[in-house]
Amino acid sequence: MELRGASALVTGAGRGIGRAIALGLGRAGVGVTAVARTASEIESVAREITSAGGRAVAFAGDVRDPRVCAGAVARAREAHGRLQVLVNNAGVGAHAPVAETSDEEWARILDTNLTAVFRLTRAALPQLTDGGGHVFMISSLAGVNPIAGMAAYDASKAGLDHFAHCLMLEVRHQGVKVTTIAPGSVDTAFGGSRSGETSWMLRGEDVAATLLDLLRARDEAHLSRVEMRPSRPARRT
Ligand SMILES: NC(=O)c1ccc[n+]([C@@H]2O[C@H](COP(=O)([O-])OP(=O)(O)OC[C@H]3O[C@@H](n4cnc5c(N)ncnc54)[C@H](OP(=O)(O)O)[C@@H]3O)[C@@H](O)[C@H]2O)c1
Repeated sequence: MELRGASALVTGAGRGIGRAIALGLGRAGVGVTAVARTASEIESVAREITSAGGRAVAFAGDVRDPRVCAGAVARAREAHGRLQVLVNNAGVGAHAPVAETSDEEWARILDTNLTAVFRLTRAALPQLTDGGGHVFMISSLAGVNPIAGMAAYDASKAGLDHFAHCLMLEVRHQGVKVTTIAPGSVDTAFGGSRSGETSWMLRGEDVAATLLDLLRARDEAHLSRVEMRPSRPARRT
């Protein structure tokens, strides 16, 4: 894809992996629409992109709200033209055994990690199929490697992986690629701040660099799933 002049929407762009992706896209000349609930964080990302000569707008909202999904997709078109890249990155996790997981906690995780992705993608498809595009799902290795005490999160990411696969089969003949990026541990504040040594972990910038490489692939080449691991994970004692 020709990146300069393209239009991209990144959810969860205020911190961590999404922030690195938004900044990477901005540097590559893509017009970025940054979405998250914390307005100050996405405004800071948008400012960083525009002050370096790029194009970016912030759209504050909770992706669990269907009006936010529709509004963000419309705002992306208004700001930067037809949406070509959708990065479904916003996500939340929690540690709790099934027996102690409330309906509210289950809904918070599934609504953010899966239902919002469905709604955003459905809202974006008319723009993506009208000339081609690329949808990215930032999933997790937890979608294929279950962890005790993380059933809601793991189920949301396993569901996301299958959703992405179905979508890929549906839209590939309309010029839309769908890629799942499934990282292992990334050094972000996900699920609370990290304790101990973190230098062995992946960084948000690693995920961003991979996503940009995938966008630059030939139109005829489609990498539909990428798993990323720290090369030397910390040994569990
Ligand atoms: N870090 C890891 O080790 C790791 C590993 C594998 C996969 N992942 C996946 O990578 C993605 C990003 O994780 P991260 O580590 O960068 O997390 P993070 O640092 O906690 O950032 C999450 C981002 O998502 C936004 N967000 C969360 N809920 C939202 C909602 N309801 N509406 C709008 N925005 C929302 C947050 O902003 P607000 O709170 O301001 O809304 C924030 O900008 C997630 O899908 C996660 O599952 C992370």
